[in-house]
Amino acid sequence: MKERINTQYVASEIKRYRESAAIRSAAERDGRINHIENSPLSSFEQSFVGVIPEGERLGAYVERVLADRAGRAIGLELGGVGSRLFAGFTPGFFERTAGVNLTDYRPIFSSEPKDTTMHRDRQKIMDGLSRHKTDAIIADISRNHRVIEGDMLATATSQQIEEEFLRGDKVNFMIRRMAAGNFDLPTEPFFLAKNANRYYQMMGENSVLFDELPTGFWNLSEAWSELVNTHYSGRLIAYVADNKLLLHKGVGAPKKLPVFSVSKVREIVASQGKFSTLRPLFTTPA
Ligand SMILES: C[S@@+](CC[C@H](N)C(=O)[O-])C[C@H]1O[C@@H](n2cnc3c(N)ncnc32)[C@H](O)[C@@H]1O
Repeated sequence: MKERINTQYVASEIKRYRESAAIRSAAERDGRINHIENSPLSSFEQSFVGVIPEGERLGAYVERVLADRAGRAIGLELGGVGSRLFAGFTPGFFERTAGVNLTDYRPIFSSEPKDTTMHRDRQKIMDGLSRHKTDAIIADISRNHRVIEGDMLATATSQQIEEEFLRGDKVNFMIRRMAAGNFDLPTEPFFLAKNANRYYQMMGENSVLFDELPTGFWNLSEAWSELVNTHYSGRLIAYVADNKLLLHKGVGAPKKLPVFSVSKVREIVASQGKFSTLRPLFTTPA
């Protein structure tokens, strides 16, 4: 039987997320920032506590797994500017790091010397991007950390990451914790999976990903981790808890991110009945 997807739902979801991203970008440029922004490593640790191996700290775990890359490791945060996150690792552990965020709001919002006038004076903020390099940015430059402005789901952004940041190298540690920003993302799992595959392919052998899963994966993540752990035992390892994922891409991991077929997604959604958030995906438009 030919599987049908509600294409109107898919199109409306993508339109909705693009509109949310435009609104959020404008708000950030105006200095209106979310409560959870540019968080320190300890804050990420709290979010991922359910998937971090028992008794380990997030930073120590990453540095242990990537020990053979110490001094050469490459880190990438998606959906965040990453300054305070990467400042929490052992100095020099990462050779270079980047945060991919809708805007680079570091001159506006920084935990380091607070210039409160910057919050109010919009023109100063705009000019400030070039003139008022804060201490936070200077510290980032010294750590070889940069911010890439853009929509992480846009092909142009992933191309920019490949060409300007990775330049032929691979990511060893990737993390995404968008908190409330997660609800701005589209819920359509095939669109999300296509994008996730682009980032998966940026990851090198023996690399780790911590992901606060987008809502579109919530109904699928348990079954997906079972699939991965059964089919690729030891080569690709997935731990899922509380809608968080720890993925370890080992030696011999599949080149492409394993994904479910449309019929398998339909089957999982059907088994979850009215509680599945993905039901509209298969509802025939009126
Ligand atoms: C609640 S903040 C979390 C920031 C950071 N990860 C942290 O934990 O402190 C959500 C962030 O996601 C970013 N964001 C939302 N949609 C995005 C998208 N499509 N591409 C890139 N960044 C996005 C926003 O710019 C915002 O900085």
